[in-house]
Amino acid sequence: MNAKNAWVERAHSHFSEDFGSSAEWVAVAPGRVNLIGEHTDYNEGLAVPCAVDRRTLVLGAPRGDRKVRVHAWDLDEAGEFLSDAPERRESWLDYVQGVFFALAERGFDLPGFDLGITSTVPLNSGLSSSAALGVALVAGLNAGLGLDLSPSDWARVAHRGENGFVGVQCGLLDHFASALGRERHALRIDCRSQTVEPIPIAGAGFSILLVHSGVERRLADGVYGERVAECRRALGAAQAAGIAPPSARALRDLSEAQLPRLERALDPIEFRRVRHVIGENARADAFCRALVEGDTQSLGTLLAQGQASLREDYAVSTPELDWLCELGSRCDGVVGSRLTGAGLGGFTLHLVVPDQLEAAREQIGEGFRARFGRLPESLTALPSRGAYLEDSV
Ligand code: GLA
Repeated sequence: MNAKNAWVERAHSHFSEDFGSSAEWVAVAPGRVNLIGEHTDYNEGLAVPCAVDRRTLVLGAPRGDRKVRVHAWDLDEAGEFLSDAPERRESWLDYVQGVFFALAERGFDLPGFDLGITSTVPLNSGLSSSAALGVALVAGLNAGLGLDLSPSDWARVAHRGENGFVGVQCGLLDHFASALGRERHALRIDCRSQTVEPIPIAGAGFSILLVHSGVERRLADGVYGERVAECRRALGAAQAAGIAPPSARALRDLSEAQLPRLERALDPIEFRRVRHVIGENARADAFCRALVEGDTQSLGTLLAQGQASLREDYAVSTPELDWLCELGSRCDGVVGSRLTGAGLGGFTLHLVVPDQLEAAREQIGEGFRARFGRLPESLTALPSRGAYLEDSV
């Protein structure tokens, strides 16, 4: 039995011990790392993530009543709610309840379930553990109840659960990456048209190294919501000044050519947020072209420009994240570095020539220890397939 099957088998045993019955389905969804296109999704822009080989398993069996019992084995915690009456608890259980809420909103009448969860996606680190949980749960309920939802819908339902129930105003990036990831591919996600194009990266000749800044972050923290609000205000101000048409829906509707007028019309902070979003959309497109062409020099330049913009214009970097990127830029074999995810903590991303991966990991780790007094955790991530159902049940 390989390691993955052993994991699934263990989860089955836990399920039977806890609930006294067998799981009827096992759904799997991965975390994601965003290569570029940060804070663009809720502005209807472009993002380029890949799903990674860290996954969440959700096991489920329907019940004869409305009760939903959930065991989070890694946390050693359990919770309960009614399938037709989720109520916010301000805990991980809300991510489960959010899916029931979003499916009810689509008109599905859900029975109760016994559910078990286990995961290898690091929590609160910017690798989208919450999206992996939501997408796996939708995929499982979809299979168990024959709801006939597509993988894009799994993403939309999980996203709606986070937005509409948990109250995190995140965009679609994480859920689409988790639902639609492909082995050896990045995804170019157009968050306006909600189209996803797989971009092969095998030929680009790099490994993905992630180094943790040691600072945890949660989207529910205020800064993420502040940025979302600043972007909305900036769009309103651009419309009031006659720069964006009244029909504009998001910062995606603004262009680089408008920057000089925007600078005169907007308050300086809002202007900087807009400049980041406009530049980041262009970088995301250029990054996809460089991936296809195997142009590693451009990849590195775009990552460095992205990091500078996240630090200076979007103000979501930290001294730890900046330092990890700086260390990356000093290593042989590191193509480029930047923070990944929402920022303000979590991981930095380093694209590294494969045979120099271990040397880079060590050099970055030691450089971080010299300044911050501790060795950072790190992991390598493989671009992986999106959510699926285990068929071994
Ligand atoms: C978090 C959110 C995403 C996205 C990124 C920033 O991961 O969940 O929707 O906004 O931050 O790019």
